[in-house]
Amino acid sequence: MISEKEMKNFYVTTPIYYVNASPHIGHAYTTIVADVMARFHRMAGYRTYFLTGTDEHGDKVAEAAREAGEAPQEYADRISGQFRALWPKLSITNDYFVRTTDPDHKEVVRSILQKVYDSGDIYFGEYEGHYCVGCERFYRESELVDGMCPDHLTVPETRKESNYFFRMSKYQNWLIGHIQDNPDFIRPERYRNEALAFLKEPLEDLCISRPKTRLTWGITLPFDEQYVTYVWFDALINYLTGIGYPDSEQFGISWPVSEHLIAKDILKPHGIYWPTMLKGAGIEPYQHLNVHGYWNIDQNKMSKSRGTVVKPLDLKDTYGLDAFRYFLMRDMVFGLDSNFSEEAFVQRINADLANDLGNLVSRSLSMAVKYCEGRVPAAADHPDDAPLIAKATGLFSEVEASFRSLQFHKALISIWEFINLTNRYIVEREPWVLAKDPPARPRLDTVVYNILEALRVIAVLVTPFMPDSAGDILRRLGIEDVEPQNFSSIGTWGGLPKGNVITRGTSLFPRVEYQKPDEGPATILTDVKEEISFEAFHKIDLRVAQVIEAQRVNKSDKLLKLKIDVGEERTIVAGIGKDYRPEDLVGKKIAVILNLKPVKLMGVESHGMLLATDTGDKVSLVSFDGDADVGAVIS
Ligand code: MSP
Repeated sequence: MISEKEMKNFYVTTPIYYVNASPHIGHAYTTIVADVMARFHRMAGYRTYFLTGTDEHGDKVAEAAREAGEAPQEYADRISGQFRALWPKLSITNDYFVRTTDPDHKEVVRSILQKVYDSGDIYFGEYEGHYCVGCERFYRESELVDGMCPDHLTVPETRKESNYFFRMSKYQNWLIGHIQDNPDFIRPERYRNEALAFLKEPLEDLCISRPKTRLTWGITLPFDEQYVTYVWFDALINYLTGIGYPDSEQFGISWPVSEHLIAKDILKPHGIYWPTMLKGAGIEPYQHLNVHGYWNIDQNKMSKSRGTVVKPLDLKDTYGLDAFRYFLMRDMVFGLDSNFSEEAFVQRINADLANDLGNLVSRSLSMAVKYCEGRVPAAADHPDDAPLIAKATGLFSEVEASFRSLQFHKALISIWEFINLTNRYIVEREPWVLAKDPPARPRLDTVVYNILEALRVIAVLVTPFMPDSAGDILRRLGIEDVEPQNFSSIGTWGGLPKGNVITRGTSLFPRVEYQKPDEGPATILTDVKEEISFEAFHKIDLRVAQVIEAQRVNKSDKLLKLKIDVGEERTIVAGIGKDYRPEDLVGKKIAVILNLKPVKLMGVESHGMLLATDTGDKVSLVSFDGDADVGAVIS
């Protein structure tokens, strides 16, 4: 048995979001990354704690409440409620939701302030400077761009105030040393370098109070009733409150392994203020600050006025939650900015989910139903299967290594390489041929077993990213307990029990068609074919072609390689080899789709697809009445 001490722990946090605006895709991204990390660690046997919440004090929130005509608390309750209600809809599994207006949080902030004050690191002084209301902070002359706040592009106010200051400057050298001694304290490296660049300049002390004459919406200082706490000194402490600092057991477990997730916009408070605040309060620094880039829309920052704020629920409702989670994790390289485009999103769904994974699921389950009476068959060892099994057993470590380096897109690429390997395994082993040869029965069983077991391995590994679909696949494989923490056979081969009942189910990821915003919502194609517009039909490049050459594809009795004339020469691969002999096809006029994405079948690239009916028993080519012109459009 593992002792308490040996138990692996994991603690992940998101920023606590300001309640001055409704949630958008940026908030959703950070929270989904945290959720994927939390789920992965639970699955890998870590005792995991996941914290998110809302940041509710300060000028910005007070101003937004005023604009909305509400009292600050009432306003904060309402917007905080929107965040809290959103997360379950995105399958977010946070353990706790912290609010900075919670009484226990206020208590912790006051106790830390008192502690730092008592140690002499907080003093009273006067300050005059350029203050940006949007950022809630003073700017140094050198930080302004053309006299304006670099973030808001507004001219800051000149403010003079008597305030309390935290001696941040005292910890400058300690912080530089800590970052240098712990190269992954702030990561990826570009943000570590950015933090070190800030620290090249002398660090000023941090103003940590606001006079109540100007702002009352905040936590009153424990040592001066006339002041409230600066919103960042209040907000950062949520990471401690959320795990029951100072004396809960959870704090002892989680703090040493804390992983903060933020975007680059709030690097300075997290990379500079927070570690020095912790040092001043006599608390160990956090373990890692993980910084990601920005989602931009049409290469620009999201903007309410340009109408480019992307709402997570709109995307989820149109395309499905798992597709949305998958896209965010697959298309952003952690640390770099990414451009969001709905068109790219749709392409990803169709290529990776509908085509690669969706097809694998439906083919595999159909074969189990058709050839093995809907049960997981028995398997025997066969040397030809070694490459598939080797990739499967190494896959968990590959994915884990990508998680460790925050390369979530790489984790998905590794899983997709395995999906494609499994798809190739099916094409090359041709179970449909084995099924016609009774002595090959044991081999057919093994091939089907391997395909189903590969699917189980895939479902387990995509669980953190796409929990609903993964659970669905596992249940179709007859696995009832789909709680990640109960997965017992991660990184092993052969975990799928023989005899499990297989359920075929409906299409997991229907293909989606992108329609420009003025054409209405995107259409999701289901198994029952929906109506399509004339324009949509016209996107298919359907033509008359003439077969110039035909030959069998090596080692396949079904595939034929055809050279066709459509006004230009093309090669296509067609699965008609059982019903048509190559020599009978030469000279024949056939119907083809030209603008299909090329695919490789048994090593031959196909640049198009011919039209035929396929009843399972017989394939029949579409033909023409009279003499049709080569290259003519079919409409
Ligand atoms: N309240 C502070 C954080 C205090 S944490 C102690 C705050 N809130 S915020 O609502 O502005 O959230 C900022 C965070 O939202 C970013 O750091 C990031 O996690 C997320 N994002 C907001 N816009 C984003 C993008 N366009 N792209 C990616 N993430 C972004 O700052």
